[in-house]
Amino acid sequence: VYNSFLKCFSEKTKSPQAQIAKNVFSQSDPSYSSVLRAYIRNARFNTSSTRKPTIIVTPRSDSHVSAAVICSKPLKNFVLKIRSGGHDYDGLSYISDKPFFILDLSNLRDVSVDIASNSAWISAGATLGEVYYRIWEKSKIHGFPAGVCPTVGVGGHLSGGGYGNMLRKFGLSVDNLIDAKIVDVKGRILDRKSMGEDLFWAISGGGGGSFGVVLGYKVKLVPVPPIVTVFRVEQYMDSGAVDMVHKWQSVGPKTDPNLFMRMLIQPVTRKKVKTVRASVVALFLGRANDVVSLLRKEFPELALKKENCTEMSWLQSALWWDNHVNATQTDPKVFLDRNLDSASFGKRKSDYVATPIPRNGIESLFKKMIELGKIGLVFNPYGGKMAEIAEDATPFPHRKKLFKIQYSVNWKESSPEIEKGFLNQAKVLHSFMTGFVSKSPRSAYLNYRDVDIGVNDHGKNSYKEGEVYGRSYFGKNFDRLVKVKTAVDPGNFFRNEQSIPTLPIAN
Ligand code: FDA
Repeated sequence: VYNSFLKCFSEKTKSPQAQIAKNVFSQSDPSYSSVLRAYIRNARFNTSSTRKPTIIVTPRSDSHVSAAVICSKPLKNFVLKIRSGGHDYDGLSYISDKPFFILDLSNLRDVSVDIASNSAWISAGATLGEVYYRIWEKSKIHGFPAGVCPTVGVGGHLSGGGYGNMLRKFGLSVDNLIDAKIVDVKGRILDRKSMGEDLFWAISGGGGGSFGVVLGYKVKLVPVPPIVTVFRVEQYMDSGAVDMVHKWQSVGPKTDPNLFMRMLIQPVTRKKVKTVRASVVALFLGRANDVVSLLRKEFPELALKKENCTEMSWLQSALWWDNHVNATQTDPKVFLDRNLDSASFGKRKSDYVATPIPRNGIESLFKKMIELGKIGLVFNPYGGKMAEIAEDATPFPHRKKLFKIQYSVNWKESSPEIEKGFLNQAKVLHSFMTGFVSKSPRSAYLNYRDVDIGVNDHGKNSYKEGEVYGRSYFGKNFDRLVKVKTAVDPGNFFRNEQSIPTLPIAN
């Protein structure tokens, strides 16, 4: 398989085999293991029993990607997995239970910022930290609304929607797209004009891995003030946390769109007593005095004081959100560090809330979290710009919800027993929340990948299997995604465990 792939790859790229072999790794290559591990971000999928790819290809140009697609197609028994930053929570970019290749785009990392036109071309293999840093190099009053973790890859993040702490002001990352470049199933390199609006719509939140290989996006930059404010306020279960979380539900999604207040809820032990800590972590696109007086009126339960706030530049706020406590003293170059081959064990799930959880519901939730012991929740407020955008403007349908819940559990040392315990905590808490969250379908965020929702074997039941997770992630937009998929990739070459299926007739 390796030899036939390499021969084809060398012919299509018009490069001598000896040279192009530097970008095609077989399992016997001395670098294979480090190339594979570099972008494994969840240690659950880095065990000796995890099936490994037969070949890893690391293209250095768009035409290499095109050649890799063309040369993979004849190898019918293999699935091509596409990996940019490797942050898929369930590892779908680098694992498979079938024989597979990895197309690893981490070398395609150009970020080209043009302040005059308020735009940037960002390559799929760039990280969000690189995007933020390159914008900051050119301007201190421009930014881009995307995720808070700097090592997340552009390819997966934007193809799946992408959000960060400016979403109430500017929407999702995909609400700020101008153009895109992909390699389609025929190996053609297409831009927005040549791919057409349907396919452009589909790759603006409908997930990577279903329609083609995204090479990059052209994005709109957004204006950020020279000084922004961040703060963190914590309360415990026995001293105001229940009231704070309860009230947050009516303030977080309704307040000034310049303010994003994330709520973190975590079981902890304090003074030898098991309790729950609720923390509001916030970004305000403005000055400290203004947010303090705003929240004194709207959210007295938070008891925000000026001394809780720190003013800084937008880039420093991104560092602060990435847990650089002394963000104003931190060299922004840390955003260029990719932290390769660093992974802990983890599991994520998600939910959406449309009506506030009653106070007694929050009390019972806290008790359940103490009983479970480790799993935490993150509430991300919507409203603002999010609520103004039509549910079918992009494949991401959850526009009118109050907030999103992320279920989050990480652990450092593992064994099958330990893993089972933590995965079970996630399942039990998710089940406990059933009465408080969206139903028919119970919604989820694609970028918080969760294979528990359902997987696709791509056999004769592919459409039915796809509908289960597809409706959760995309609601009614699933139908249009299926139509696009059927038109652009009827043979279902681009597929993974949760990709968009073709219409049944084409199966
Ligand atoms: P990865 O390479 O694993 O790809 C993810 C999926 O996209 C896979 O199915 C893959 O095949 C496909 N894909 C990747 N590149 C592609 C390409 N070029 N063309 C076609 N398909 C492609 N999300 C969020 O919205 N806001 C946030 O703040 C965060 N924060 C966060 C922190 C941490 C620590 C993690 C691990 C994850 C997040 N996420 C997040 C979720 C993140 O947005 C999601 O996992 C993205 O898909 C990751 O993109 P990568 O390119 O890194 O992943």
